Amino acid sequence: MSSLFEPYDLGPIRLKNRFVMSPMERSRARNPDWAPDAETARYFSQRAGAGLIVTGSIAISAWARTWAFEPGLYTQTQIDAWRQVTREVHDHGGVIFGQLRHGGRASHVSHQPNRQSTVSATDKAAGKAISMAFDASGQPAFLWQGKPRALRTEEVSQIVGEFAQAARNAREGGLDGIEIHGANGYLHDQFINGALNDRDDRYGGSIENRIRFTLESIDAVVDAIGADRIGIRLSPYGRYNEMPAFDDEAETYLTLAAELSKRGIVYVHFSDQTRWADDVSIPTTYLREFRNAFRGTVIVAGGYLKENGQAAIDTGEADLIGIGKPFLANPDLVERLRNDWPLNAWDEDTFYTAGPKGYTDYATREQR
Ligand SMILES: Cc1cc2nc3c(=O)[nH]c(=O)nc-3n(C[C@H](O)[C@H](O)[C@H](O)COP(=O)(O)O)c2cc1C
Repeated sequence: MSSLFEPYDLGPIRLKNRFVMSPMERSRARNPDWAPDAETARYFSQRAGAGLIVTGSIAISAWARTWAFEPGLYTQTQIDAWRQVTREVHDHGGVIFGQLRHGGRASHVSHQPNRQSTVSATDKAAGKAISMAFDASGQPAFLWQGKPRALRTEEVSQIVGEFAQAARNAREGGLDGIEIHGANGYLHDQFINGALNDRDDRYGGSIENRIRFTLESIDAVVDAIGADRIGIRLSPYGRYNEMPAFDDEAETYLTLAAELSKRGIVYVHFSDQTRWADDVSIPTTYLREFRNAFRGTVIVAGGYLKENGQAAIDTGEADLIGIGKPFLANPDLVERLRNDWPLNAWDEDTFYTAGPKGYTDYATREQR
């Protein structure tokens, strides 16, 4: 049986263990370029003991921006800044993929060029969902997302092209690969969801049409950087950002998993939201069915640590285990789990604040 602490070959990349640092947006790109800085390089290099690091969400273009102080990958300054981050992570023996996002309606007008309205598969708003945005005086604040405009058909192709360019930029910036953020109620998820997507063009209606934007995005990034550098995050049954339940939800994601398998991308990252919220439940056999539909590597994330992570590997539900908050608070998480050392608690109050506090100042076991 394979241990979580043993190496794993993710396509052409050897990971030193099966722990993945889950993507976590930390709002630390606090400069006019929205570029990662030296503190971000330090944060990730401190956590290079993970087999794989996935960065927090990165905006693929200006109108993709979704969260205050989110870094981007659409200007040369940003690419150069990422190169500093990835160099430091590689110097510490780490492997790092960049999570690429377009937030769609989960953004906020204050993020949009000229305060234009947000966009989506639909013009239906998420009435009570929040975005970390900027208030009337330009200060960061948690604000209602607002009513989007439905994208025109040709704009969808434009966004597909922006994903391809951001993937090229990611590789130029030294990232080892990319993860498309198809989960948690952002733009791809807004298209996939049969209760939200009310389009009558080739991107709405049937399962085939609703997953078309995601598959076009995948085909474009595969063309740009090669399938063995690409993963995608999905959240079947996820309700975050007010994603409604829909009738053929199980079938939709199984069809998508099978199509992704044909394209030979290296992983699917299953964001399991059942431990975030009361209204989420996933049928017990579903992870296994999903796993059977996708032949590549499966990562599961959402409330995992050593024991349940090892169990997911032993039962064949997953190959790699994504861990979020415990990694945020424990730079040496893998060593702590290996030795059964106690863990630092995470501090929610500093998830999205400025500076090193709650970012790079969590102690390792040795520093205590
Ligand atoms: C501060 C914070 C930021 C997050 N940002 C992202 C993100 O940028 N992209 C994403 O896919 N998930 C994001 N998540 C969700 C995590 O990746 C993960 O799925 C979730 O925290 C559950 O895993 P855990 O129980 O191991 O923390 C974030 C979570 C936290 C706590």
